[in-house]
Amino acid sequence: MNQPRGILILDFGGQYTQLIARRVRECGVYSSVLPCSAQLEAIRQEEPLGIILSGGPASVLDEGAPTIDPAVFGLGVPVLGICYGMQLMAHLHGGTVERGQQREYGRTLVTMDETSTGLLQGMSAQSVCWMSHTWQVTGLPDGFVSIAHTPNCPVAAMANPGRQLYGVQFHPEVTHSEEGTRLLENFLHRICQLTSDWTMEAYAGRAIAQIRQQVGDGTVLLGLSGGVDSAVAAALLYRAIGRRLTCVYVDHGFMRAGESDQVVDIFTKTFPVELKAVDASQRFFTALSGVTDPEQKRKIIGREFVEVFKQASAELGKRDHFAQGTIYPDVIESGSVKGSAVIKSHHNVGGLPGELGFTSLVEPLRMLFKDEVRKLGLTLGLPESLVYRQPFPGPGLAIRVIGELTPEKVRIVRESDRILREEIEASGIRASQYFTVLTGAKSVGVMGDERTYAYAVAIRAVTTDDFMTADVARLPYELLDKISARIIGEVSGCNRVLYDVTTKPPASIEWE
Ligand code: XMP
Repeated sequence: MNQPRGILILDFGGQYTQLIARRVRECGVYSSVLPCSAQLEAIRQEEPLGIILSGGPASVLDEGAPTIDPAVFGLGVPVLGICYGMQLMAHLHGGTVERGQQREYGRTLVTMDETSTGLLQGMSAQSVCWMSHTWQVTGLPDGFVSIAHTPNCPVAAMANPGRQLYGVQFHPEVTHSEEGTRLLENFLHRICQLTSDWTMEAYAGRAIAQIRQQVGDGTVLLGLSGGVDSAVAAALLYRAIGRRLTCVYVDHGFMRAGESDQVVDIFTKTFPVELKAVDASQRFFTALSGVTDPEQKRKIIGREFVEVFKQASAELGKRDHFAQGTIYPDVIESGSVKGSAVIKSHHNVGGLPGELGFTSLVEPLRMLFKDEVRKLGLTLGLPESLVYRQPFPGPGLAIRVIGELTPEKVRIVRESDRILREEIEASGIRASQYFTVLTGAKSVGVMGDERTYAYAVAIRAVTTDDFMTADVARLPYELLDKISARIIGEVSGCNRVLYDVTTKPPASIEWE
């Protein structure tokens, strides 16, 4: 897609970098992220209309601390440094950065000293802001003035209006900064003079034109996973090239109740692509027979999935291009270096395009964050029930049945999960993710006058922003009671319902 122009965020490893990018977009301005180590030429190529330097965990005085080519400040566009970004701006301009007397963390009342113009225009004289720093600017560089302070931090914000350089010690991107959006809007609209033209309606138009240009009169193959991203990518491609789009949907037999039918229904009626739906459940059960180890299960499912997909596309005959629903966080994350331990292998079809000999890869959501993908989906006419679907692991219910898989156990987890979802949705109570797990444990019970020996089902319900950490959703007892009674009453083979009250960490969200 022709590169839209907007704000470039240089990432110094701060935990809020993606949040800054999302907030800028929520203000209607396109934003992109590059690591701070990006060469000046790569930065120029983005043709940014403004630059934001993110926060980061280092101190600018550390040996080898991340830095940038000072020429970034001479590109002729406004620059806003946030936290570490502000300290680096000060440091590179000859200012002083020192360890503060007291670390400031959390909600902090900041006095805004210059609210009549510029970055803080229109903000309250005292505003609650989110602080998280040990180091701070204690000596301003030439040409800069302090425009905000706290009792512990003499320069909570600084400005050099002549050169359009600005810095804030606090985090305007975090919602705890009560007027943070106003500050960002001032930077975007007043200082960079950008208008709000980044909308999903406009994006859809541009993306469709771009797809047509890339694909010409060729054909495209896309793997539908049942998730939001591939569905939105398919809807967009359908609008662009109609039935020259072929979708392959592999049902591994571990989808939630009603999900496969919904996907097939939408992509035969609302977006009538050429759809090849493969029911491969038997094959997956066979491959998984006797397997109890979670990683083994994930690997087998990943491998079988690729095989079935390859077979299905071979049967369809050659398609020119391969499309997938890669989204912007995947793009940013693959550009940054992270050496984390593999806790769970996630399967995807990443290596396929090369193996199958396609001419090009079409990734029409590469620039979008998840919430934008959802908005785009609604704009294109996908139903809310699909667009706002909870995250669902690629291996599906298979990793929610602990121990060996059997059709009976999958039925129990699927039916209990449907009941749980119905009840939570009807209650209006919000949780980020909720599902049931077949624990694998059997216990003795009594139903009517009969002894039972049946499975225990666990309810997992969490609240989280990023799924990296999660809290237990405080579901009311009355609701748990109702869910439990319905599961026991309606799902045969299960005689006990438990509630998982473990946060992440130490537990993960899924059980396997
Ligand atoms: P965990 O269990 O690691 O889950 O705490 C974090 C989030 O990731 C989802 N998850 C997956 N998503 N493929 C995916 O696309 C997978 O293999 C997978 N495994 C876990 C999980 O549902 C939760 O939202």
